[in-house]
Amino acid sequence: MVDLLYIFLLLVAALFTFGICASIIYFVLKYRRGAKVDRRRDPNHSNTAIEIIWSVLPLLLSMVIFGWGAALYFRAHQPPPDCHEVNVLAKQWMWHIQHSGGQREINTLHVPVGRPVRLRMISEDVIHSFFVPAFRLKQDVLPGRYVTMWFEANKAGRYHLFCAEYCGTSHSKMIGEVVALDPAEFAEWLQGGPVQAPETAGELLFAKYRCNTCHTAAINPRCPPLGGLFGSKVTLQDGTRLTADEAYVRESILQPNAKIVAGYQALMPSFTGQISELELFDLVAYLKSLSKPTPAGTSSGNQQRDGPLPPQEEKR
Ligand code: CUA
Repeated sequence: MVDLLYIFLLLVAALFTFGICASIIYFVLKYRRGAKVDRRRDPNHSNTAIEIIWSVLPLLLSMVIFGWGAALYFRAHQPPPDCHEVNVLAKQWMWHIQHSGGQREINTLHVPVGRPVRLRMISEDVIHSFFVPAFRLKQDVLPGRYVTMWFEANKAGRYHLFCAEYCGTSHSKMIGEVVALDPAEFAEWLQGGPVQAPETAGELLFAKYRCNTCHTAAINPRCPPLGGLFGSKVTLQDGTRLTADEAYVRESILQPNAKIVAGYQALMPSFTGQISELELFDLVAYLKSLSKPTPAGTSSGNQQRDGPLPPQEEKR
């Protein structure tokens, strides 16, 4: 679909190029030195019909390009439900990839054919760019912020993965592969080795960083409950309402005071510089798991399990 738009743009550009070149050649020949043409008759100075045409036609043309491009853009940024989720950490100079089941790989991304894959990406240092030409995909990967992108491979095979943003000495070596496998093979690949689920790893980190000192199973008036938090609407002190997503959870761990939940105080210390992005992937996964529907029912947001953490506080 991106290709179609490109071909259309090329055709439009070609049309104008040839039209302009042809006019240049025609006039150069017609009015060349020595040619016996009338250069003195007063030409027309205005022609309303022509002016309307050359204003309206380009407007329509550019609106077509705009609408078409915008539709593709929105599609590219709205992942369908039920994606295979993958975390991508870019750093000088490698791609660290972690599947939602806990499988990890470096510079290679295995994906299933025929199922959408959603990438949540962040950089640990400078700006990188995740670029898979065969999929017509390119997304800058920024430090300090999750960016997402999705795609669906429709043909098994191996595809080049590049870093498309100059990121230092070994930028040109920051390359890899996307390996698209048939669903059965992919399922087999997922089984291929012992893995620790990110939720489990996150739970251990939750204890390691002493998040559980405050964010305990018992209701603690000093910190908002974490069970049922993920995906819910949060009201902040200034009245703003937002949805608790991965970016919000991550920010609330690193900069707890950036967004204080209404009714609570800024008590939690910052964890900036103490927790790596890889650990944050796991912590976020753990916090997400606290909000998974359970038979007992969820939402109202109290501790279904032990340890809550973020919006704002937490002790070390
Ligand atoms: Cu990473 Cu260039």
